[in-house]
Amino acid sequence: MTLHHLMLFLHLVGVVVWVGGMAFAWGCLRPAATQLPPAQRLPLWSGVLSRFFGLVWIAIALILLSGIAMLLEVGMGQAPKAWHLMALTGAVMIAIFVSIWFGPWRALRSAVGREDWAQGAVAMNRIRSRVAFNLGLGLLTIALATLGLGY
Ligand code: HEM
Repeated sequence: MTLHHLMLFLHLVGVVVWVGGMAFAWGCLRPAATQLPPAQRLPLWSGVLSRFFGLVWIAIALILLSGIAMLLEVGMGQAPKAWHLMALTGAVMIAIFVSIWFGPWRALRSAVGREDWAQGAVAMNRIRSRVAFNLGLGLLTIALATLGLGY
């Protein structure tokens, strides 16, 4: 095993946790949770996302550190175009996550604390649409990183 293999492993662990978690939240938990009244649904989301977003920060650290290490090993100039595109869409994904963290995620937690379900629902809608967008971008990034190598 080389250092590169270890970096690729850590990179993919981060990708699996982040993109897999978004797929579970959007595709499995969201349809089931819509059946609940807001007073149950929003505290449930707040608890689930509090744990998931903690994992996403760890995943981002793993993806960034390993990704940059692998890029520098080859050199930016020598790296395939697909790697540059991956780094670009990956950076956009990270920016969107940071925007969720400092925006609607704070608003959701504060609304749940005040039991303000109307404001909580607004914040949750914003989180949902940004997570759906990031899920699509995550799948595109995986496609660029794999299928994109053929171009
Ligand atoms: C944000 C900065 C990122 C950088 C600098 C980066 C960099 C890299 C590099 C250099 C490799 C090549 C490893 C190799 O083929 O030996 C790689 C592989 C890979 N990356 Fe990223 N990456 C980033 C983000 C992401 C994100 C956000 C995803 C997915 C959501 C992703 C998915 C993948 C996948 C699936 C591979 C394996 C491709 C393969 O080896 O054929 N990367 N990454």
